[in-house]
Amino acid sequence: MPRTTAAATAVVSPKGAHRWERGHPWIFRTDVLEAPAAAGVVRVTDRRGRFLGTALFSPKSEIRLRLLAREEVTVDRAWWQARLARALARRQGIDATAYRLVHAEGDGLPSLVVDRYERWLVVQLLSAGLETCRADILGALEALVRPEGILLRNDVGVRRHEGLPENVELAMGSVPEEVEFREGQVRYLAAPWRGQKTGAFLDQRPNRLLAAALAKPGGTALDCFTYHGSFALHLATRAGHVTALDVSAEALARGRENAGRNAMTNLDWLEGDCFDVLRQFERERRRFDTIVLDPPAFAKTKAAIPQALRGYKEINLRAMKLLADDGVLLTASCSYHVRRDAFLEMVADAAADSGRRLTLTHILGQGDDHPEVVTIPETGYLKGAVLRAS
Ligand SMILES: C[S@@+](CC[C@H](N)C(=O)[O-])C[C@H]1O[C@@H](n2cnc3c(N)ncnc32)[C@H](O)[C@@H]1O
Repeated sequence: MPRTTAAATAVVSPKGAHRWERGHPWIFRTDVLEAPAAAGVVRVTDRRGRFLGTALFSPKSEIRLRLLAREEVTVDRAWWQARLARALARRQGIDATAYRLVHAEGDGLPSLVVDRYERWLVVQLLSAGLETCRADILGALEALVRPEGILLRNDVGVRRHEGLPENVELAMGSVPEEVEFREGQVRYLAAPWRGQKTGAFLDQRPNRLLAAALAKPGGTALDCFTYHGSFALHLATRAGHVTALDVSAEALARGRENAGRNAMTNLDWLEGDCFDVLRQFERERRRFDTIVLDPPAFAKTKAAIPQALRGYKEINLRAMKLLADDGVLLTASCSYHVRRDAFLEMVADAAADSGRRLTLTHILGQGDDHPEVVTIPETGYLKGAVLRAS
């Protein structure tokens, strides 16, 4: 049985050690004074040899060390199984058959993402150190969850910084091209092999349930950036009619199929650029009782923040103008670089320009299967708000 022990040692500077004391699990290249040549699990000490923790080591990454445990532990299959069992226990009671089982640093398991879709798992190994634990992690997941298949969606850009290849690989059993799962009352088809992220945007799950609860019974709703109808189908459980809009024909085709699976006929599927369509709806003086804005990350880097905020403001301003009296806008941003304060400021700015009186009814984050640790800002990226026109 593969076994990873922390035989090698890395030595870190006081600044590096301080980061762990302050609750952040990363130590950067410049704070690592001595390290082994190969990636793996290492014991970490300060210059005087005082033990600080057990960590994943990545020899090529700017993030050299990722803390696994403050104690000296043997990181073998049994260790992974115990830690994964804790993550699984924290997900008990989720009213869905697809959810995130491990949210990397958010679950104290740095650079590991595991999403569950019904009887299948989709895994991402996002660091060179973690990659050396692959067999133990997969073995532990198999023993714990007994999935019918495990897919590695390692086609993620961050692996390049780790010196790792980007690929999609079947690791165990078989995984279908499409998997049907349930979220609250709604059924969806996810595409684990080719869909965005690991096949669906699981992070918005509670916000989709909230949107359904807020939709006006019998009213009109607009879901911008719908992907495969994620918010739209929930809105359609209450609204009289829903317009679902996305630029991806493939995602919309799955959306139509999803509507059929739920025997819903009160949606139409519109392929187009939200910026253009919102402008057109404004010209046509359309009104909606509920609007959802869930765009892709407009700011992929810090430098892109000003332009991203202009983009967010434009779509928010237009959506505010399209709200019917007493209408509700659920607006979100998944750009890590646009922090919550900046997002709420942008919303206030758009509201001021819209000429509408809007009350803030909810401040949103990601679902609790995507835990955001307050000392690790990187674990939180999704933020949002609900506003009511009054
Ligand atoms: C964050 S995802 C939406 C997730 C979805 N709301 C959910 O809960 O699953 C962003 C979506 O926006 C779509 N998209 C990107 N740019 C767009 C644009 N300019 N106009 C319309 N859709 C766009 C992408 O195809 C993708 O489906």
